[in-house]
Amino acid sequence: MRRTILAVVGLVLILVGCTNTATEQQPEEQNTEQEQMQQKEDMEMDHGNMEGMEAHMDHDNIPPLQASEGIQKLAIPPLLEKQKGSDFDYDVVAQEGATKFFDGSSTKTYGYNGNLLGPTLRLKEGETVKVKVRNELNEPTTFHWHGLEVPGTEDGGPSDLIQPGESKIVTLKADQPTATLWYHPHPHERTAEQVFKGLAGMLYIDESDVTTDLPNTYGVDDIPLIFQDRLFDKNQQLDYEALMNSDGTIGDISLVNGTLNPKLTVTEPLMRFRILNGANARNYTFRLSNGATFVQIASDGGLLQEPVETDEITLSPSERAEILIDFSALDSNEPIAITDEEGNALLPFDLDLDNRDVTEETESMSWEDNTTFLTEEEKSLSVTKEIELYGMMDMVTINGKKFDPGRIDLRQEQGVSEVWEIYNKPDEMGGMNHPFHIHGTQFKIISRDGEEPDPKEQGLKDSVLIEPGERVRLLVTFPEEGIYMYHCHILEHEDNGMMGQVEVY
Ligand code: C2O
Ligand code: CU
Ligand code: CU
Repeated sequence: MRRTILAVVGLVLILVGCTNTATEQQPEEQNTEQEQMQQKEDMEMDHGNMEGMEAHMDHDNIPPLQASEGIQKLAIPPLLEKQKGSDFDYDVVAQEGATKFFDGSSTKTYGYNGNLLGPTLRLKEGETVKVKVRNELNEPTTFHWHGLEVPGTEDGGPSDLIQPGESKIVTLKADQPTATLWYHPHPHERTAEQVFKGLAGMLYIDESDVTTDLPNTYGVDDIPLIFQDRLFDKNQQLDYEALMNSDGTIGDISLVNGTLNPKLTVTEPLMRFRILNGANARNYTFRLSNGATFVQIASDGGLLQEPVETDEITLSPSERAEILIDFSALDSNEPIAITDEEGNALLPFDLDLDNRDVTEETESMSWEDNTTFLTEEEKSLSVTKEIELYGMMDMVTINGKKFDPGRIDLRQEQGVSEVWEIYNKPDEMGGMNHPFHIHGTQFKIISRDGEEPDPKEQGLKDSVLIEPGERVRLLVTFPEEGIYMYHCHILEHEDNGMMGQVEVY
């Protein structure tokens, strides 16, 4: 079957026109008692008080994000350049740096090949590259390729520590469909801090020959968006030890691609955004400020079974979504932004469109998908791996245990599909959401509490948000061998031992 998203884009055009006023009045409308309490709490919770704040992050005390003032140009991570004439193709260096987020101060940060975050590494479907990874930090680190189906030896898990001053060459084979993946450090008990300080980058797998007409000009109509929240101390530093929360460090400052108060000038009518929730712990629900719909085209591991038209997407830490926004029908004088669920503008747009005609581009936009998402046989496979997530703060466990690098928790045969059932066991306080991630695989969600997953989740995934009390079944296949981690991607939970190891043989 040949799928076309032309119809969907057409629908967006119509909906953009008629839902303009939908969300604008949000702030005043719901001044409930709860909100007033929240406001009071917010006032008390200024930076001084939040420093060292150690509390279980239930839903009510998550600090709201400050809206972007739209005064800085959104940074676009540079593309990582191929090395010529060396015995490796790419060079990735973890290093210390400094970043000017605020006027009159400089913040110590970490970055890959720079001061903050890292360059985007683009691999072609089927391509094999050698990457030299080098650690110039003053602490051990690892280089993990989140979502990439590589052998355990190349995966950069916690056992793959690279000491300060050391380097190693890893071989990455992009043997999977086109997708938006990412890379970040993974040293046990240090992951949260190193990511918090700025270590993260995008990793794309590009189609070997372009079979869709999706926008794909990097930085022009195809834009990476790394959303992160940060907490700064009164010296405007990312002092992790002082700021961290063992239930997940959540900040009030929103950064997009490391830019504080960003804005993006849109020059093409049809834009593709590759969104990564790069936060340590915060969940994001993204909307458009005018309530318009957009089209989700991809989940963590690639294109969805079919494009989904929606007015919001929720991503838990480490999840990705690719979306298309059609700006052609929007009035350039009306402010438009990507907002969070509170309506705070996280990324305001400026429109600078010479050409408002999307028809030409979208006419041929389609992709082939001849397969059914899950066969009847796959849906009826019985559960062979049971995972129970439990606890909060530093009492988090998987199947009652904490991570032990010397223990193999599960074994699975290479290339053989098994059904993992993940159960998020509530506690007396109700429990909390855990984003569950498995290395070395792109899985499919079979069901959530027995129900078929939402169309937005009918695509390859490597992380899945699991609510308290929920049971999620995953169809998991490992194409390569080795030892892989599975864990909660609230980075503080991972560091607190909410992680296990599966050996693929
Ligand atoms: Cu984002 Cu264990 O990884
Ligand atoms: Cu991973
Ligand atoms: Cu967790």
